[in-house]
Amino acid sequence: MKICCIGAGYVGGPTMAVIALKAPDIQVTVVDMNAARIAAWNSDTLPIYEPGLDDVVKEARGRNLFFSTDVKATIAAADIIFVSVNTPTKTYGVGSGRAADLRYIESVARTIAEVSTTPKIIVEKSTIPVKTAETIQQILAANTSGAKFQVLSNPEFLAEGTAVPDLFNPDRVLIGGERTPEGDAAVETLVSVYARWVPRERIITTNLWSSELSKLVANAFLAQRISSINAISALCEATGADVDEVANAIGKDSRIGPKFLKASVGFGGSCFQKDILNLVYLCESFGLPEVAAYWNQVVSMNDYQKRRFSARILKSLFNTVADKRIAVFGFAFKKDTNDTRESAAINVVRDLLAEHANVVVYDPKVPAAEIMSDVLGKGETNPRLTVATSAYEAALDAHAIAIVTEWDEFKTLDYTKIFADMHKPASLFDGRNIVDLAKLRAIGFRAHGIGR
Ligand code: NAD
Ligand code: UGA
Repeated sequence: MKICCIGAGYVGGPTMAVIALKAPDIQVTVVDMNAARIAAWNSDTLPIYEPGLDDVVKEARGRNLFFSTDVKATIAAADIIFVSVNTPTKTYGVGSGRAADLRYIESVARTIAEVSTTPKIIVEKSTIPVKTAETIQQILAANTSGAKFQVLSNPEFLAEGTAVPDLFNPDRVLIGGERTPEGDAAVETLVSVYARWVPRERIITTNLWSSELSKLVANAFLAQRISSINAISALCEATGADVDEVANAIGKDSRIGPKFLKASVGFGGSCFQKDILNLVYLCESFGLPEVAAYWNQVVSMNDYQKRRFSARILKSLFNTVADKRIAVFGFAFKKDTNDTRESAAINVVRDLLAEHANVVVYDPKVPAAEIMSDVLGKGETNPRLTVATSAYEAALDAHAIAIVTEWDEFKTLDYTKIFADMHKPASLFDGRNIVDLAKLRAIGFRAHGIGR
Protein backbone atom coordinates (compact mmCIF):
# COMPACT_ATOMS: atom_id res chain seq x y z
CA MET A 1 0.00 0.00 0.00
CA LYS A 2 1.23 3.51 -0.80
CA ILE A 3 0.12 6.62 1.04
CA CYS A 4 0.62 10.16 -0.18
CA CYS A 5 0.01 13.10 2.14
CA ILE A 6 -0.35 16.54 0.57
CA GLY A 7 0.78 19.19 3.08
CA ALA A 8 3.92 18.78 5.23
CA GLY A 9 2.77 21.05 8.05
CA TYR A 10 2.04 20.66 11.74
CA VAL A 11 -0.50 17.94 10.96
CA GLY A 12 0.78 16.23 7.81
CA GLY A 13 4.36 15.81 9.09
CA PRO A 14 3.70 14.26 12.52
CA THR A 15 0.65 12.16 11.52
CA MET A 16 2.43 10.59 8.57
CA ALA A 17 5.62 10.02 10.56
CA VAL A 18 3.60 8.05 13.10
CA ILE A 19 1.71 6.06 10.45
CA ALA A 20 5.06 5.18 8.83
CA LEU A 21 6.54 4.18 12.19
CA LYS A 22 3.59 1.97 13.12
CA ALA A 23 3.08 0.47 9.64
CA PRO A 24 6.53 -0.37 8.23
CA ASP A 25 4.93 -2.20 5.28
CA ILE A 26 3.21 0.96 4.02
CA GLN A 27 5.23 3.44 1.98
CA VAL A 28 4.34 6.95 3.15
CA THR A 29 5.39 10.02 1.15
CA VAL A 30 4.61 13.53 2.36
CA VAL A 31 4.62 16.16 -0.38
CA ASP A 32 4.48 19.93 -0.25
CA MET A 33 4.90 22.74 -2.74
CA ASN A 34 7.05 24.54 -0.14
CA ALA A 35 10.53 23.28 -1.08
CA ALA A 36 12.20 24.82 2.00
CA ARG A 37 9.81 22.94 4.28
CA ILE A 38 10.47 19.64 2.51
CA ALA A 39 14.23 20.25 2.72
CA ALA A 40 13.88 20.81 6.46
CA TRP A 41 11.91 17.56 6.89
CA ASN A 42 14.80 15.83 5.12
CA SER A 43 17.40 17.49 7.37
CA ASP A 44 18.48 17.13 11.01
CA THR A 45 16.51 20.25 11.96
CA LEU A 46 12.82 19.49 11.40
CA PRO A 47 10.63 22.47 10.46
CA ILE A 48 8.48 22.08 13.57
CA TYR A 49 9.41 21.56 17.20
CA GLU A 50 7.41 18.76 18.77
CA PRO A 51 8.68 16.65 21.70
CA GLY A 52 9.47 13.08 20.59
CA LEU A 53 9.10 13.81 16.88
CA ASP A 54 12.81 13.70 16.02
CA ASP A 55 13.05 10.07 17.16
CA VAL A 56 9.98 9.00 15.20
CA VAL A 57 11.22 10.67 12.01
CA LYS A 58 14.73 9.31 12.45
CA GLU A 59 13.47 5.74 12.69
CA ALA A 60 11.10 5.83 9.72
CA ARG A 61 12.68 8.34 7.32
CA GLY A 62 14.39 6.68 4.38
CA ARG A 63 12.85 3.32 5.38
CA ASN A 64 9.19 3.86 4.48
CA LEU A 65 8.80 7.58 5.17
CA PHE A 66 9.75 10.09 2.49
CA PHE A 67 9.40 13.85 2.02
CA SER A 68 9.23 15.19 -1.51
CA THR A 69 8.24 18.15 -3.66
CA ASP A 70 7.15 15.88 -6.49
CA VAL A 71 3.45 16.30 -5.79
CA LYS A 72 2.05 14.91 -9.04
CA ALA A 73 4.13 11.73 -9.30
CA THR A 74 3.49 10.87 -5.66
CA ILE A 75 -0.26 11.35 -6.06
CA ALA A 76 -0.27 9.24 -9.22
CA ALA A 77 1.44 6.34 -7.45
CA ALA A 78 -0.66 6.40 -4.25
CA ASP A 79 -3.59 4.26 -3.11
CA ILE A 80 -4.58 6.58 -0.27
CA ILE A 81 -4.16 10.37 -0.45
CA PHE A 82 -4.38 12.40 2.74
CA VAL A 83 -5.19 16.06 2.14
CA SER A 84 -3.57 18.01 4.95
CA VAL A 85 -3.26 21.47 3.46
CA ASN A 86 -4.03 24.69 5.29
CA THR A 87 -7.63 25.93 5.45
CA PRO A 88 -7.20 29.45 6.83
CA THR A 89 -9.92 32.00 7.46
CA LYS A 90 -10.83 33.84 4.26
CA THR A 91 -9.46 37.38 4.14
CA TYR A 92 -11.34 38.63 1.08
CA GLY A 93 -14.75 38.62 -0.58
CA VAL A 94 -17.86 36.84 0.66
CA GLY A 95 -17.40 35.50 4.19
CA SER A 96 -14.17 37.46 4.70
CA GLY A 97 -12.92 37.11 8.27
CA ARG A 98 -15.08 34.06 9.01
CA ALA A 99 -15.50 31.48 6.24
CA ALA A 100 -12.76 28.93 5.55
CA ASP A 101 -10.63 29.63 2.50
CA LEU A 102 -10.94 26.43 0.49
CA ARG A 103 -8.74 27.37 -2.42
CA TYR A 104 -5.92 24.99 -1.38
CA ILE A 105 -8.38 22.12 -0.99
CA GLU A 106 -9.90 22.78 -4.40
CA SER A 107 -6.50 23.09 -6.06
CA VAL A 108 -5.42 19.75 -4.58
CA ALA A 109 -8.64 18.09 -5.79
CA ARG A 110 -7.96 19.35 -9.31
CA THR A 111 -4.40 18.04 -9.25
CA ILE A 112 -5.56 14.64 -8.01
CA ALA A 113 -8.13 14.43 -10.82
CA GLU A 114 -5.56 15.51 -13.37
CA VAL A 115 -2.89 12.94 -12.59
CA SER A 116 -4.83 9.90 -11.34
CA THR A 117 -5.21 6.82 -13.50
CA THR A 118 -5.86 4.23 -10.76
CA PRO A 119 -8.54 4.03 -7.99
CA LYS A 120 -7.80 6.21 -4.96
CA ILE A 121 -9.13 6.89 -1.51
CA ILE A 122 -9.01 10.62 -0.78
CA VAL A 123 -8.91 11.43 2.94
CA GLU A 124 -9.82 14.88 4.26
CA LYS A 125 -7.36 15.42 7.09
CA SER A 126 -7.61 19.20 7.00
CA THR A 127 -10.37 20.81 9.05
CA ILE A 128 -13.06 21.91 6.62
CA PRO A 129 -16.69 23.09 6.57
CA VAL A 130 -19.42 20.43 6.46
CA LYS A 131 -20.14 19.26 2.93
CA THR A 132 -16.62 19.85 1.62
CA ALA A 133 -16.44 16.18 0.62
CA GLU A 134 -19.29 16.91 -1.79
CA THR A 135 -17.24 19.73 -3.37
CA ILE A 136 -14.22 17.44 -3.72
CA GLN A 137 -16.38 14.68 -5.24
CA GLN A 138 -17.84 17.09 -7.79
CA ILE A 139 -14.45 18.44 -8.82
CA LEU A 140 -13.05 14.93 -9.16
CA ALA A 141 -16.06 13.70 -11.14
CA ALA A 142 -15.93 16.67 -13.51
CA ASN A 143 -12.22 16.37 -14.23
CA THR A 144 -11.25 12.74 -14.06
CA SER A 145 -10.33 10.64 -17.03
CA GLY A 146 -11.90 7.52 -15.56
CA ALA A 147 -10.14 6.84 -12.22
CA LYS A 148 -12.47 5.88 -9.35
CA PHE A 149 -12.40 7.88 -6.11
CA GLN A 150 -13.82 7.50 -2.63
CA VAL A 151 -13.71 10.55 -0.39
CA LEU A 152 -13.43 9.99 3.37
CA SER A 153 -13.32 12.40 6.30
CA ASN A 154 -10.69 11.66 8.95
CA PRO A 155 -10.23 14.81 11.04
CA GLU A 156 -7.16 15.18 13.21
CA PHE A 157 -7.50 15.83 16.94
CA LEU A 158 -3.84 16.10 17.96
CA ALA A 159 -2.78 19.14 19.98
CA GLU A 160 0.54 20.82 19.31
CA GLY A 161 3.18 20.20 21.94
CA THR A 162 1.74 16.72 22.57
CA ALA A 163 1.33 15.62 18.95
CA VAL A 164 3.41 12.43 19.27
CA PRO A 165 1.71 11.02 22.41
CA ASP A 166 -1.68 12.13 21.02
CA LEU A 167 -1.02 10.19 17.80
CA PHE A 168 0.38 7.14 19.60
CA ASN A 169 -2.57 6.97 21.94
CA PRO A 170 -5.56 8.88 20.55
CA ASP A 171 -8.81 9.16 22.54
CA ARG A 172 -10.47 8.19 19.28
CA VAL A 173 -9.91 8.09 15.53
CA LEU A 174 -12.90 9.33 13.54
CA ILE A 175 -13.55 8.14 10.00
CA GLY A 176 -16.57 9.26 7.98
CA GLY A 177 -17.53 7.77 4.66
CA GLU A 178 -20.38 7.33 2.22
CA ARG A 179 -22.88 4.72 3.37
CA THR A 180 -22.52 2.61 0.19
CA PRO A 181 -20.67 -0.71 -0.34
CA GLU A 182 -17.77 1.20 -1.99
CA GLY A 183 -17.78 3.79 0.80
CA ASP A 184 -17.81 1.09 3.48
CA ALA A 185 -14.88 -0.69 1.78
CA ALA A 186 -12.84 2.53 1.71
CA VAL A 187 -13.62 3.17 5.38
CA GLU A 188 -12.51 -0.38 6.21
CA THR A 189 -9.20 0.17 4.35
CA LEU A 190 -8.45 3.27 6.41
CA VAL A 191 -9.58 1.56 9.62
CA SER A 192 -7.05 -1.20 8.89
CA VAL A 193 -4.23 1.38 8.76
CA TYR A 194 -5.03 2.82 12.21
CA ALA A 195 -5.94 -0.58 13.69
CA ARG A 196 -2.24 -1.49 13.64
CA TRP A 197 -1.85 0.50 16.86
CA VAL A 198 -5.21 1.97 17.86
CA PRO A 199 -7.68 -0.40 19.60
CA ARG A 200 -10.67 -1.04 17.32
CA GLU A 201 -13.18 0.25 19.86
CA ARG A 202 -11.52 3.65 19.67
CA ILE A 203 -11.96 3.86 15.89
CA ILE A 204 -15.35 5.46 15.29
CA THR A 205 -16.97 5.33 11.87
CA THR A 206 -19.81 7.67 10.87
CA ASN A 207 -21.35 9.19 7.80
CA LEU A 208 -19.31 11.88 6.04
CA TRP A 209 -21.19 14.91 7.36
CA SER A 210 -21.12 13.80 11.01
CA SER A 211 -17.37 13.34 10.79
CA GLU A 212 -16.75 16.71 9.13
CA LEU A 213 -19.00 18.51 11.62
CA SER A 214 -17.61 16.70 14.68
CA LYS A 215 -14.20 18.25 14.16
CA LEU A 216 -15.54 21.81 14.22
CA VAL A 217 -17.76 20.99 17.19
CA ALA A 218 -14.91 19.39 19.18
CA ASN A 219 -12.79 22.53 18.80
CA ALA A 220 -15.76 24.78 19.57
CA PHE A 221 -16.51 22.87 22.80
CA LEU A 222 -12.85 22.93 23.89
CA ALA A 223 -12.52 26.66 23.22
CA GLN A 224 -15.87 27.28 24.91
CA ARG A 225 -14.56 25.79 28.15
CA ILE A 226 -11.56 28.14 28.06
CA SER A 227 -13.72 31.19 27.35
CA SER A 228 -16.10 30.11 30.12
CA ILE A 229 -13.36 29.88 32.74
CA ASN A 230 -11.75 33.08 31.45
CA ALA A 231 -15.09 34.88 31.84
CA ILE A 232 -15.18 33.64 35.42
CA SER A 233 -11.59 34.83 35.94
CA ALA A 234 -12.78 38.42 35.47
CA LEU A 235 -15.45 37.87 38.10
CA CYS A 236 -12.86 36.32 40.43
CA GLU A 237 -10.67 39.40 40.16
CA ALA A 238 -13.67 41.56 41.04
CA THR A 239 -14.73 39.46 44.03
CA GLY A 240 -11.64 37.96 45.65
CA ALA A 241 -12.40 34.39 44.54
CA ASP A 242 -9.47 32.44 43.03
CA VAL A 243 -10.18 31.05 39.55
CA ASP A 244 -7.89 28.03 39.98
CA GLU A 245 -9.75 27.11 43.19
CA VAL A 246 -13.07 27.54 41.38
CA ALA A 247 -11.83 25.44 38.42
CA ASN A 248 -10.68 22.72 40.80
CA ALA A 249 -13.96 22.76 42.67
CA ILE A 250 -16.17 22.50 39.59
CA GLY A 251 -13.81 20.12 37.76
CA LYS A 252 -14.22 17.52 40.51
CA ASP A 253 -17.80 17.08 39.31
CA SER A 254 -17.40 14.14 36.97
CA ARG A 255 -20.04 15.65 34.70
CA ILE A 256 -17.81 18.70 34.19
CA GLY A 257 -14.34 17.13 34.45
CA PRO A 258 -11.01 18.83 35.21
CA LYS A 259 -9.46 19.38 31.77
CA PHE A 260 -9.38 22.61 29.74
CA LEU A 261 -10.34 24.77 32.70
CA LYS A 262 -7.05 26.62 32.99
CA ALA A 263 -7.70 30.36 32.95
CA SER A 264 -5.20 32.19 30.78
CA VAL A 265 -4.32 35.31 28.85
CA GLY A 266 -6.56 33.86 26.12
CA PHE A 267 -6.41 30.89 23.81
CA GLY A 268 -4.28 31.07 20.67
CA GLY A 269 -3.21 28.65 17.98
CA SER A 270 -4.08 28.37 14.35
CA CYS A 271 -7.33 26.50 14.84
CA PHE A 272 -9.70 27.43 17.67
CA GLN A 273 -10.62 30.89 16.41
CA LYS A 274 -10.54 29.85 12.75
CA ASP A 275 -12.76 26.81 13.33
CA ILE A 276 -15.31 28.62 15.51
CA LEU A 277 -15.58 31.42 12.96
CA ASN A 278 -16.06 28.74 10.33
CA LEU A 279 -18.85 27.19 12.44
CA VAL A 280 -20.43 30.60 12.97
CA TYR A 281 -20.38 31.25 9.24
CA LEU A 282 -21.90 27.85 8.53
CA CYS A 283 -24.73 28.52 10.99
CA GLU A 284 -25.43 31.84 9.35
CA SER A 285 -25.37 30.26 5.90
CA PHE A 286 -27.93 27.70 7.03
CA GLY A 287 -30.21 30.46 8.43
CA LEU A 288 -29.43 29.91 12.12
CA PRO A 289 -28.40 33.37 13.42
CA GLU A 290 -29.07 32.54 17.11
CA VAL A 291 -26.79 29.52 16.95
CA ALA A 292 -24.16 31.60 15.17
CA ALA A 293 -24.31 34.33 17.82
CA TYR A 294 -24.00 31.77 20.62
CA TRP A 295 -20.71 30.38 19.28
CA ASN A 296 -19.39 33.76 18.20
CA GLN A 297 -19.41 34.80 21.84
CA VAL A 298 -16.63 32.26 22.55
CA VAL A 299 -14.32 34.26 20.26
CA SER A 300 -15.51 37.64 21.58
CA MET A 301 -14.78 36.55 25.15
CA ASN A 302 -11.29 35.49 24.09
CA ASP A 303 -10.63 38.88 22.50
CA TYR A 304 -11.83 40.52 25.71
CA GLN A 305 -9.51 38.35 27.81
CA LYS A 306 -6.45 39.28 25.74
CA ARG A 307 -7.29 43.00 25.93
CA ARG A 308 -8.02 42.72 29.65
CA PHE A 309 -4.50 41.39 30.32
CA SER A 310 -2.73 44.31 28.61
CA ALA A 311 -5.15 46.78 30.20
CA ARG A 312 -4.32 45.39 33.63
CA ILE A 313 -0.60 45.85 33.01
CA LEU A 314 -1.17 49.45 31.99
CA LYS A 315 -3.41 50.22 34.96
CA SER A 316 -1.05 48.63 37.49
CA LEU A 317 1.93 50.55 36.13
CA PHE A 318 0.26 53.86 37.06
CA ASN A 319 -1.54 54.14 33.71
CA THR A 320 1.62 54.69 31.71
CA VAL A 321 4.12 52.27 30.25
CA ALA A 322 5.66 54.83 27.91
CA ASP A 323 9.43 54.26 27.77
CA LYS A 324 9.19 51.58 30.45
CA ARG A 325 10.90 48.28 29.72
CA ILE A 326 8.50 45.34 29.83
CA ALA A 327 9.85 41.80 29.61
CA VAL A 328 7.52 39.37 27.90
CA PHE A 329 8.22 35.75 28.86
CA GLY A 330 7.09 33.41 26.10
CA PHE A 331 5.76 34.04 22.63
CA ALA A 332 4.52 30.64 21.35
CA PHE A 333 0.74 30.09 21.66
CA LYS A 334 1.39 27.37 24.26
CA LYS A 335 4.41 25.60 25.72
CA ASP A 336 6.41 22.92 23.91
CA THR A 337 5.82 24.30 20.42
CA ASN A 338 7.50 26.91 18.24
CA ASP A 339 4.13 27.75 16.66
CA THR A 340 3.08 31.38 17.16
CA ARG A 341 -0.05 31.46 15.01
CA GLU A 342 -2.76 33.57 16.74
CA SER A 343 -0.68 33.59 19.92
CA ALA A 344 -2.08 35.90 22.60
CA ALA A 345 1.49 37.21 22.89
CA ILE A 346 1.09 39.01 19.56
CA ASN A 347 -1.86 41.02 20.91
CA VAL A 348 -0.20 41.74 24.24
CA VAL A 349 3.04 42.97 22.63
CA ARG A 350 1.13 45.12 20.14
CA ASP A 351 -0.97 46.67 22.91
CA LEU A 352 2.19 47.50 24.89
CA LEU A 353 3.93 48.98 21.85
CA ALA A 354 0.85 51.10 21.16
CA GLU A 355 1.39 52.55 24.65
CA HIS A 356 5.04 53.26 23.73
CA ALA A 357 6.52 50.66 26.03
CA ASN A 358 9.95 49.17 25.26
CA VAL A 359 9.16 45.47 24.93
CA VAL A 360 11.75 42.71 25.23
CA VAL A 361 10.52 39.24 24.33
CA TYR A 362 12.13 35.96 25.28
CA ASP A 363 10.92 32.58 24.05
CA PRO A 364 13.00 29.39 24.25
CA LYS A 365 11.88 28.07 20.84
CA VAL A 366 10.64 30.94 18.68
CA PRO A 367 13.31 32.63 16.52
CA ALA A 368 13.72 36.41 16.82
CA ALA A 369 12.80 37.02 13.18
CA GLU A 370 9.48 35.23 13.68
CA ILE A 371 8.64 37.37 16.71
CA MET A 372 9.45 40.59 14.85
CA SER A 373 7.44 39.68 11.76
CA ASP A 374 4.44 38.39 13.75
CA VAL A 375 4.16 41.63 15.68
CA LEU A 376 5.26 44.19 13.10
CA GLY A 377 4.81 42.55 9.70
CA LYS A 378 7.40 40.95 7.45
CA GLY A 379 10.68 42.87 7.23
CA GLU A 380 9.45 45.65 9.56
CA THR A 381 11.37 46.82 12.61
CA ASN A 382 10.57 49.04 15.57
CA PRO A 383 13.31 50.18 17.98
CA ARG A 384 10.89 49.60 20.86
CA LEU A 385 10.70 45.84 20.18
CA THR A 386 13.71 43.61 20.86
CA VAL A 387 14.28 39.92 21.50
CA ALA A 388 16.44 38.52 24.31
CA THR A 389 18.22 35.17 24.47
CA SER A 390 17.23 34.43 28.08
CA ALA A 391 14.56 35.37 30.58
CA TYR A 392 17.24 36.98 32.77
CA GLU A 393 18.44 39.17 29.91
CA ALA A 394 14.86 40.21 29.08
CA ALA A 395 14.12 41.17 32.69
CA LEU A 396 17.32 43.17 33.20
CA ASP A 397 16.36 46.78 34.03
CA ALA A 398 12.69 46.03 33.32
CA HIS A 399 9.81 47.64 35.18
CA ALA A 400 7.57 44.64 34.70
CA ILE A 401 7.45 41.02 33.52
CA ALA A 402 4.49 39.52 31.67
CA ILE A 403 4.38 35.72 31.49
CA VAL A 404 2.44 34.91 28.34
CA THR A 405 3.43 31.30 27.54
CA GLU A 406 3.54 28.63 30.24
CA TRP A 407 7.04 27.25 29.44
CA ASP A 408 8.21 25.09 32.36
CA GLU A 409 11.49 27.03 32.67
CA PHE A 410 9.58 30.12 33.84
CA LYS A 411 8.46 28.23 36.95
CA THR A 412 11.99 27.66 38.22
CA LEU A 413 13.75 30.95 37.43
CA ASP A 414 15.71 32.65 40.22
CA TYR A 415 13.15 35.41 40.80
CA THR A 416 15.20 36.86 43.67
CA LYS A 417 18.04 37.56 41.24
CA ILE A 418 15.60 38.85 38.62
CA PHE A 419 13.97 41.19 41.16
CA ALA A 420 17.35 42.61 42.17
CA ASP A 421 18.07 43.60 38.56
CA MET A 422 14.71 45.32 37.93
CA HIS A 423 13.43 48.88 38.38
CA LYS A 424 11.30 49.32 41.50
CA PRO A 425 8.50 48.87 42.09
CA ALA A 426 8.95 45.68 40.08
CA SER A 427 5.76 44.07 38.77
CA LEU A 428 5.00 40.60 37.45
CA PHE A 429 1.84 39.67 35.55
CA ASP A 430 1.35 35.93 35.28
CA GLY A 431 -0.93 35.32 32.30
CA ARG A 432 -0.78 31.56 32.89
CA ASN A 433 -0.99 31.19 36.66
CA ILE A 434 2.21 29.15 36.80
CA VAL A 435 4.24 30.98 39.46
CA ASP A 436 3.63 31.26 43.19
CA LEU A 437 2.37 34.81 43.71
CA ALA A 438 2.82 34.66 47.48
CA LYS A 439 6.52 33.77 47.09
CA LEU A 440 7.02 36.56 44.54
CA ARG A 441 5.32 39.07 46.85
CA ALA A 442 7.63 37.94 49.67
CA ILE A 443 10.59 38.79 47.39
CA GLY A 444 9.11 42.25 46.82
CA PHE A 445 7.28 41.92 43.51
CA ARG A 446 3.90 43.46 42.89
CA ALA A 447 2.56 40.17 41.53
CA HIS A 448 -0.69 39.58 39.68
CA GLY A 449 -2.22 36.42 38.22
CA ILE A 450 -5.29 35.77 36.12
CA GLY A 451 -8.50 35.52 38.13
CA ARG A 452 -6.94 35.95 41.53
P1 NAD B 1 0.33 24.17 7.80
O1 NAD B 1 0.12 25.51 7.22
O2 NAD B 1 1.39 23.95 8.83
O3 NAD B 1 0.65 23.12 6.62
C1 NAD B 1 -0.07 23.07 5.42
C2 NAD B 1 0.91 22.79 4.28
O4 NAD B 1 0.17 22.54 3.09
C3 NAD B 1 1.86 23.95 3.96
O5 NAD B 1 3.20 23.54 4.14
C4 NAD B 1 1.54 24.29 2.49
O6 NAD B 1 2.70 24.65 1.74
C5 NAD B 1 0.96 23.00 1.99
N1 NAD B 1 0.12 23.15 0.81
C6 NAD B 1 -0.93 23.98 0.62
N2 NAD B 1 -1.46 23.80 -0.60
C7 NAD B 1 -0.72 22.86 -1.23
C8 NAD B 1 -0.76 22.25 -2.51
N3 NAD B 1 -1.71 22.59 -3.40
N4 NAD B 1 0.17 21.32 -2.82
C9 NAD B 1 1.12 20.97 -1.92
N5 NAD B 1 1.21 21.51 -0.69
C10 NAD B 1 0.30 22.43 -0.34
O7 NAD B 1 -1.08 23.71 8.38
P2 NAD B 1 -1.38 22.67 9.56
O8 NAD B 1 -1.25 23.33 10.89
O9 NAD B 1 -0.64 21.40 9.32
O10 NAD B 1 -2.93 22.42 9.34
C11 NAD B 1 -3.41 21.71 8.20
C12 NAD B 1 -4.88 21.42 8.41
O11 NAD B 1 -5.05 20.60 9.57
C13 NAD B 1 -5.75 22.66 8.65
O12 NAD B 1 -6.99 22.46 8.04
C14 NAD B 1 -5.91 22.68 10.15
O13 NAD B 1 -7.11 23.30 10.54
C15 NAD B 1 -5.96 21.21 10.50
N6 NAD B 1 -5.53 20.87 11.86
C16 NAD B 1 -4.41 21.46 12.39
C17 NAD B 1 -3.98 21.07 13.66
C18 NAD B 1 -2.76 21.69 14.29
O14 NAD B 1 -2.46 21.35 15.42
N7 NAD B 1 -2.01 22.56 13.63
C19 NAD B 1 -4.66 20.07 14.36
C20 NAD B 1 -5.77 19.47 13.77
C21 NAD B 1 -6.19 19.87 12.51
C1 UGA C 1 -6.42 22.22 19.68
C2 UGA C 1 -7.19 20.99 20.16
O1 UGA C 1 -6.85 20.74 21.54
C3 UGA C 1 -6.86 19.77 19.31
O2 UGA C 1 -7.67 18.67 19.73
C4 UGA C 1 -7.13 20.09 17.84
O3 UGA C 1 -6.77 19.00 17.02
C5 UGA C 1 -6.33 21.32 17.44
O4 UGA C 1 -6.69 22.42 18.30
C6 UGA C 1 -6.62 21.75 16.05
O5 UGA C 1 -7.65 21.46 15.50
O6 UGA C 1 -5.76 22.47 15.56
P1 UGA C 1 -3.94 23.11 19.96
O7 UGA C 1 -4.52 24.39 19.47
O8 UGA C 1 -2.72 22.59 19.32
O9 UGA C 1 -5.03 21.95 19.87
O10 UGA C 1 -3.59 23.24 21.51
P2 UGA C 1 -4.51 23.30 22.83
O11 UGA C 1 -3.84 22.51 23.87
O12 UGA C 1 -5.91 22.96 22.56
O13 UGA C 1 -4.40 24.82 23.25
C7 UGA C 1 -5.02 25.84 22.48
C8 UGA C 1 -4.91 27.16 23.23
O14 UGA C 1 -5.74 27.17 24.39
C9 UGA C 1 -3.49 27.47 23.72
O15 UGA C 1 -3.23 28.83 23.57
C10 UGA C 1 -3.56 27.08 25.18
O16 UGA C 1 -2.61 27.75 25.96
C11 UGA C 1 -4.98 27.51 25.53
N1 UGA C 1 -5.55 26.80 26.69
C12 UGA C 1 -5.72 25.46 26.66
C13 UGA C 1 -5.96 27.54 27.80
O17 UGA C 1 -5.83 28.77 27.83
N2 UGA C 1 -6.52 26.88 28.86
C14 UGA C 1 -6.70 25.53 28.85
O18 UGA C 1 -7.24 24.99 29.86
C15 UGA C 1 -6.29 24.81 27.73
